Amino acid sequence: MSGDEIKNSRLNRASLIYPKPLPEIKLGPVMDGIGFTLSERLALRRAWNLIRPFSRRYGQDVFYTFLNKEFWGIKKFGNGTELDLKTLHQHALKFVRFIGVLIDEQDPIMYQLMISDNNVTHSRCKVGSLYIGKLAKALVDYLLHALEKVSSPTLERGFNKLVEKFEAYQDNQRKASTYGRLSTFH
Ligand code: HEM
Repeated sequence: MSGDEIKNSRLNRASLIYPKPLPEIKLGPVMDGIGFTLSERLALRRAWNLIRPFSRRYGQDVFYTFLNKEFWGIKKFGNGTELDLKTLHQHALKFVRFIGVLIDEQDPIMYQLMISDNNVTHSRCKVGSLYIGKLAKALVDYLLHALEKVSSPTLERGFNKLVEKFEAYQDNQRKASTYGRLSTFH
């Protein structure tokens, strides 16, 4: 190696160590890969720890109130002639648990997969995406009311962002056979 080359390689190595480049300054809140700020996610996690033991009760309150208004929804839990009450009752818990699992999910890819998978399930059952958003909003309103004393604007923002994920569902018209369920979107 020539003198110049030695000097250059020393300089190159030195530049790795000193001066260290300053980290890029990010203005405003830092978002995770899913679109929540760290404090929103923390607020959601904390809130969910309070909600989890009551998932069934809250789920039933919200889902059955929803079905009182949107009674067509009951028929989605059956084969067109008979109602499947067990699946209907299970849904009252499953839909709340699903949101809890979403809140815990860190990986944006897994998160998106869960959302799209859930979208596909409801498209298959011909449940209109509009109503997915409505049920999510009803649950969030209910929870914010239940947590009134410990709520915060950050928690509200976090919950609203969650609702937006459900409002973005798409009606997937592909392949209409739905295990014999009603074949039109509602
Ligand atoms: C935030 C809104 C909702 C969430 C998070 C949600 C969540 C879920 C979950 C986790 C499943 C089970 C999927 C599986 O086992 O693979 C499911 C299935 C289902 N959901 Fe929803 N749901 C929502 C809204 C609705 C609405 C508004 C209706 C309309 C009545 C509905 C009807 C159904 C039906 C018919 C199934 C299939 C039941 C079965 O055969 O197991 N969902 N939903």
